[in-house]
Amino acid sequence: MTRLAGKSALITGAARGIGLAFAKAYVREGARVAIADIDFARAKSAATEIGTSAVAVKMDVTDQASIDAGVASTIGALGQIDILINNAAIFSAAPIAEITRADYTRVFDINVSGPLFTTQAVARHMIERGINGHVINMASQAGRRGESLVAVYCASKAALISLTQSMGLNLIQHGINVNAIAPGVVEGEHWDNVDAFFAKYENKAPGQKKTEVGNAVPFGRMGTAQDLTGMAVFLASNDANYVVAQTYNVDGGSWMS
Ligand SMILES: NC(=O)c1ccc[n+]([C@@H]2O[C@H](COP(=O)([O-])OP(=O)(O)OC[C@H]3O[C@@H](n4cnc5c(N)ncnc54)[C@H](O)[C@@H]3O)[C@@H](O)[C@H]2O)c1
Repeated sequence: MTRLAGKSALITGAARGIGLAFAKAYVREGARVAIADIDFARAKSAATEIGTSAVAVKMDVTDQASIDAGVASTIGALGQIDILINNAAIFSAAPIAEITRADYTRVFDINVSGPLFTTQAVARHMIERGINGHVINMASQAGRRGESLVAVYCASKAALISLTQSMGLNLIQHGINVNAIAPGVVEGEHWDNVDAFFAKYENKAPGQKKTEVGNAVPFGRMGTAQDLTGMAVFLASNDANYVVAQTYNVDGGSWMS
């Protein structure tokens, strides 16, 4: 399949997990990819594993100079950027009485300011070159409603859904589509981290929360990164050119249940 033949994609936080699965799916569809991550060593081994269609880029999405340098080196390596996935994010959890300002600032810097200013840098390039670009923001079902222990992360993903709407409405005049994917619960290192938070605050055994949330998904299990790749390919393709400012749930029915 070559639905992304000749396209170049910059994917933040792609050294592991969902971003890495997206990078591999895009390469299977004929694209070349920049694996951008703050963990440069892991980005390099991911790019090596994928092969000549991938390059590793060091990027910290909280640092404007790092965003600008990462965008410039991606353009240098791949020629241009047709697709951006704002995928890098961190999770945090705490009861309201224990939230720290430092944690709030860190989560919003990565999960909200990161996608906004990375999109800005890439959109300037797309506008300058007249590229019919596609931007995909990785939101979450956590952005659809609050959760007792997850106030800051939920708020960050709600902000990203809102930014998807504003960026989508503003950038479509330049032929740039901005949309988002809201996964439910997805297997991987991220969820191992989430599980550890719930073990601490809900007094659960390690792995217990993960089993509970998996059992609660109407589809019958947790999601995998592969469950999300179809939507990520569609939203990056020209088939999605008339899709503007939307956030799609890909969650095995979690949000409806
Ligand atoms: N896993 C889930 O259950 C789930 C559910 C809903 C939404 N999501 C969202 O999907 C996306 C990917 O999730 P994942 O499970 O693959 O996460 P992950 O934690 O496995 O991977 C995140 C990646 O982002 C990188 N990163 C962290 N801070 C960075 C920074 N400042 N600059 C650049 N890179 C940075 C990390 O090094 C890591 O490689 C995230 O936006 C996440 O919020 C995940």
